[in-house]
Amino acid sequence: MPVRNFKFFNMYNPLLGIHSVVRWLVVLSLLLSIGIAIRGYLTNRRFSPTENKIRHWTATIGHIQLIIGILLYLKSPIAQYLYTDLNDALANWQVLFFGVVHSLLMLIAIVVLTLGSAFAKRKTTDRLKYKTIFIWYALALIIILIAIPWPFSPLAERPFIRGF
Ligand code: HEM
Repeated sequence: MPVRNFKFFNMYNPLLGIHSVVRWLVVLSLLLSIGIAIRGYLTNRRFSPTENKIRHWTATIGHIQLIIGILLYLKSPIAQYLYTDLNDALANWQVLFFGVVHSLLMLIAIVVLTLGSAFAKRKTTDRLKYKTIFIWYALALIIILIAIPWPFSPLAERPFIRGF
């Protein structure tokens, strides 16, 4: 199965490295937003411009990772193997994971994150804004945590940080 024998060329390696690092920004910004949402909801805190910026930037970091992910998908020999030999690819879990499971789950997570951000923006009370952010961002984070190939993931393993 030739997937391991591909040549490294053009943007693949840098994209892989950037995609691997930005994951931490995605996870950390979501954890921050969820923490702020819980605190704001429980203490009836004002939803200030700072909280609003964090809501906005968390969604934006997700969108940046989505764009990098799509570019990586187009360059990744693992994902692209799906389109060269489908029968062989269907028998290879790495190809199925990165070409279908990971990409699709992450796409769904970013849609959930975007919807949550948009719904929260339109809520009329601060408490409802916090509640909306909590529900949608937590759901997005759960999907992302499942779909990340952590070194300890039963689905697919990759290092915590990938070199460039
Ligand atoms: C929140 C969103 C995402 C996170 C946190 C994330 C995280 C990761 C991580 C940690 C890796 C392993 C990198 C490494 O080898 O060290 C990876 C690989 C990959 N991701 Fe994502 N990803 C996200 C979204 C996406 C999306 C939306 C796509 C495609 C549409 C995508 C496509 C890929 C592909 C194709 C690989 C495998 C590349 C290869 O080894 O050849 N990712 N992702």
